[in-house]
Amino acid sequence: MLKVFDHPLITHKLAQLRRKETGIRDFRYNLSEISALMAYEITRDLPMKETDVVTPMGKCRTKELAGIVVLIPVLRAGLGMVEGITNLIPDAKVGHIGMYRKHDTLKPMTYYSKLPENLSDAVVMVLDPMLATGGSATAAIQALKESSARKIKLVCIIGAPEGVNKIEKDHPDVQIYLAGLDEKLNEIGYIVPGLGDAGDRLFGTK
Ligand code: PRP
Ligand code: URA
Repeated sequence: MLKVFDHPLITHKLAQLRRKETGIRDFRYNLSEISALMAYEITRDLPMKETDVVTPMGKCRTKELAGIVVLIPVLRAGLGMVEGITNLIPDAKVGHIGMYRKHDTLKPMTYYSKLPENLSDAVVMVLDPMLATGGSATAAIQALKESSARKIKLVCIIGAPEGVNKIEKDHPDVQIYLAGLDEKLNEIGYIVPGLGDAGDRLFGTK
């Protein structure tokens, strides 16, 4: 399932991320904010449990979150999505998967993985701003499934049709969320119009 958000605040922040004049500070800020806004929508179906609380005025039967949320940023650029979401879900656990695309083949190379235990009952959100060929996301999802994750949501900011098609084919059970679905990939695997290299813009490495 693919959901492309069209909320005005999400679309506005995406425009700031895309603009080439946006510097490191605003890029970081808008990436964090847009991630939080998306998470607000994505978490509508989180499991809840009944609970009793005592207010200053008396007893109240209400609900609170039940279960575990796990965030999995794909390094590097996924790191920029974590803080906005943990501001909303402070109890979320965070695992890390480090990957980079080989420039010649565009194949993902995994160089790091540290995941929380007991993923089988958790709602697991894979975070990566860019879904280009889909190679990195599909490998990250495969690694999570091998660690018993069952409820996986893929949260990206911009996707290309190639990447969306790959995830829908490889992992039809995974829900994909985007702030924008773009036209295509260029000859070196960048999303057009996209926003450029997310990791370099987030960390100022170019
Ligand atoms: C980028 C991006 C994704 C990947 C997407 O990372 O953050 O992880 O490319 O491309 P794909 O869908 O074709 O796999 P990159 O490899 O540039 O690593 P970096 O974040 O460390 O710069
Ligand atoms: N990775 C990026 O950072 N940007 C793209 O457009 C594609 C992959």
